[in-house]
Amino acid sequence: KKPAKGLLDPERIVNVAHRGASGYAPEHTMVAYEMGHKKLKADYIEIDLQMTKDGHLIAMHDETVDRTTNGTGAVKDKTLAQIKRLDAGSWFNQAYPAYARASYRGLQVPTLNEIFDRYGKQANYYIETKSPDVYPGMEKKLLDTLKRFGLSSDRVKPGQVMIQSFSQESLLKVKRLDRNVPLVQLLEAGDVNALTARRVKDIKTYAVGVGPSFKALTKTNTALIRKNDLLLHPYTVNEKKDMHRMLDYGVTGVFTNFVDRFNEVRQQH
Ligand code: G3P
Ligand code: CA
Repeated sequence: KKPAKGLLDPERIVNVAHRGASGYAPEHTMVAYEMGHKKLKADYIEIDLQMTKDGHLIAMHDETVDRTTNGTGAVKDKTLAQIKRLDAGSWFNQAYPAYARASYRGLQVPTLNEIFDRYGKQANYYIETKSPDVYPGMEKKLLDTLKRFGLSSDRVKPGQVMIQSFSQESLLKVKRLDRNVPLVQLLEAGDVNALTARRVKDIKTYAVGVGPSFKALTKTNTALIRKNDLLLHPYTVNEKKDMHRMLDYGVTGVFTNFVDRFNEVRQQH
């Protein structure tokens, strides 16, 4: 029997449930995480973080509540109690009638605490510090929360908690607070196109991997990244033909809204 491959082993291809199983359920709700983690068996739940006016970390992609709830306005100007009154499910039913369910109506925005309360050490987490400039202290709060739930880097299996950001500064802040948390530098398409050997080496000094927009990945830049022993998890790969292409290039996992599709592709490839 072959030994099980760890989450940070480049031979292990990981399937990251992007905003939960967000192709099938409203992104960043407990229902979407449950589907991604339990039913579709993703390797990771992906969580984007924003922070409320009263300092609570919540799972939401945008800086405002407008797109994914029935409210309007910036998260930073609302208390958690105000956020909790919003309906984070009905927008999905309207946007994706084919996947709509009555039970999605009225779903709440989860806090990071609630997510850790539910899954503890049973799940693996891929957490993004969003808009770190808007939320000073977000990194410390995140690490304190991880600690409270026994999820600090010295208490979990390697790679069980990954921290990702488009902001190098935010990642370096995390590193100063806990130098053993595995970090992933996210890259927009423009950054991927402009990627140099020097930049890749620089990333390697603080991160274990990169998360680039899959649209800008080529055989050449993939080889450059992998040659430097960085993990490579492109976002957001939803079509099977793109999943196959990414695996051909040699990525070590993907972020996807359709965990079941990538599980199939990963098996066939
Ligand atoms: O975190 C990977 C990917 O999710 C980055 O893009 O905008 O979906 O957070 P975004
Ligand atoms: Ca993200």
